[in-house]
Amino acid sequence: MLGPRLAKAVEKDANFLFAGPVGVGKTFAMAAAARLWAPKVRPEHDVYRSHGPEFLPFVWTSESALWAAVRSTWSGDGRESDIMRQVAETPLLCLDDLGQGASAAPKAYPAFLFGLVNARYTGNKKTFVTTNAELADIRRISPAAVDRLLEMCVCVEMTGRSRRKPAGSITIGGE
Ligand SMILES: Nc1ncnc2c1ncn2[C@@H]1O[C@H](COP(=O)(O)OP(=O)(O)O)[C@@H](O)[C@H]1O
Ligand SMILES: [Mg+2]
Repeated sequence: MLGPRLAKAVEKDANFLFAGPVGVGKTFAMAAAARLWAPKVRPEHDVYRSHGPEFLPFVWTSESALWAAVRSTWSGDGRESDIMRQVAETPLLCLDDLGQGASAAPKAYPAFLFGLVNARYTGNKKTFVTTNAELADIRRISPAAVDRLLEMCVCVEMTGRSRRKPAGSITIGGE
């Protein structure tokens, strides 16, 4: 469930950047926002007209999984342009854990990050993002990406302690 202020912002068609430490409920909130927004994607939406009914109405991915998929195209596994077209054109992109992929192929990462954010920005496409990275750190990697994100998105700063509960432990053996 989203709180009433967030639900209202979803109704007003806002994009969101859910930011905060691990476990505070960023991904949970993004899922709730996506559930509220998803019914707005109707079959007559223009992406279906141009790409056919098999086109995904929304894409949910972690940034690191997307970055890994892009990197795997470098050794011939699919086409990078096909992946980026899906994430650029999908009516709703939910991008979990922005900034996590920064350590893999660090030279190429800034261009990937900028290309991803800029595609959503120039297309004026609905975009929900979570991050537990400091925005200042992401800004050092791509100032232009962060600048665009902050213009596009209502920033939801989430604080507190992790909601994750340990599953507990058992001890086996010994006398
Ligand atoms: N509003 C909420 N009500 C109940 N459980 C929640 C809520 N927000 C998060 N949780 C639970 O807390 C845990 C951590 O949430 P998650 O969204 O994965 O955190 P984060 O993405 O910030 O690391 C998950 O088990 C999730 O189901
Ligand atoms: Mg999360």
